[in-house]
This record gives sequence, C-alpha cells and structure tokens, in this order.
Amino acid sequence: MKGLQIIKNQMKGIAVVALLMLMLLHTGCYYDVESELYPTTECLTQDMSYQVDIVPIIKQNCYACHDAANNFAGITLEGHGNLKRYVENGELLSVVQHVTGFSPMPKNAAKLLDCEIEKIEAWIEKGAPDN
Ligand code: HEC
Repeated sequence: MKGLQIIKNQMKGIAVVALLMLMLLHTGCYYDVESELYPTTECLTQDMSYQVDIVPIIKQNCYACHDAANNFAGITLEGHGNLKRYVENGELLSVVQHVTGFSPMPKNAAKLLDCEIEKIEAWIEKGAPDN
C-alpha cells in the first residue's frame, strides 16, 4: 500500500513538471516572435536617396513653413539645390539635432525621430547627392 502511494506521488510530480515544461515552451515561442522582440529598433540608413528617403521627411516636417510658397525666414528647403545650401552651411543637421545656438526645428513641434535624423546624417555623409 505504501509503495503504491509513493509511485502515485511520483507520477503526480512528473505530471506537474511536464505541465510546467509545456507552459515554458509555449511562452518561449510567444516571446521568440522577432517583431515583438525588436519592435521598431531597426533603422536602415544605407544608400539613402534624396527622392525616396530625404524628401518625404523634409516634406512632412518642414514644407509647411519652408517650401517655395511658405519660405519662412526666407528659407526654402524645397528642391535639391535649396536643401543642399543648408547642408553645406551645416544648418540643416544642427537645427534637427537641436544643437545649441541654432533654432530647433521643426519649430514648435516634436524633434524628428532618431531614425529620420540618422537617415539625413547618412545622406549628408555621402555628399548629399541628388539621387
Ligand atoms: C512652423 C513653421 C516651421 C517649421 C515646421 C519649420 N521651420 Fe525652420 N524656421 C521657421 C522660422 C520661423 C525660422 C526663423 C527662426 C526662428 O524663428 O526660430 C526658421 C528657421 C530655420 C533655419 C535657420 C536656423 C537658424 O538657426 O537660423 C533652418 C535651417 C530651418 N528653419 C530648417 C528647418 C527644417 C529642416 C525643418 C523641418 C525639420 C523646419 N525648419 C521646420 C519656421 C519653421
């Protein structure tokens, strides 16, 4: 009778361990979903294109005040030649990075996303091509 009780208890123990392992396996799979592990940390900055990568950022965040029609403070960022002028004098990067001594841009709005700034930096590093 006592022997049977011990075996019963052992089997209970094994069942509990098996159940725990199943639960662990299950949650393990859940947390291994890549998009949940690394949600939005990836920022692609290779081969930046003026047309495809840079214009959309500037258009969305700066054109309201600095396109050809609304050239606040006499500054137009529309068109490659116009934007490049502010690349070359260092102001474009300084204003979006909120460097002290420059007026932080976009004015009265949230700072650009890190990834957007990184894209602009990468494009400038390649010589700010008209591509
Ligand atoms: C809501 C309007 C507005 C938006 C949006 C805006 N700017 Fe400006 N920007 C201004 C005004 C006004 C000035 C003149 C300086 C000031 O008043 O701060 C200025 C000045 C600047 C200057 C000269 C900076 C200096 O220190 O003299 C640069 C460069 C510039 N903006 C770039 C940008 C860029 C790049 C964006 C988008 C990321 C942007 N701006 C978005 C209104 C705006």
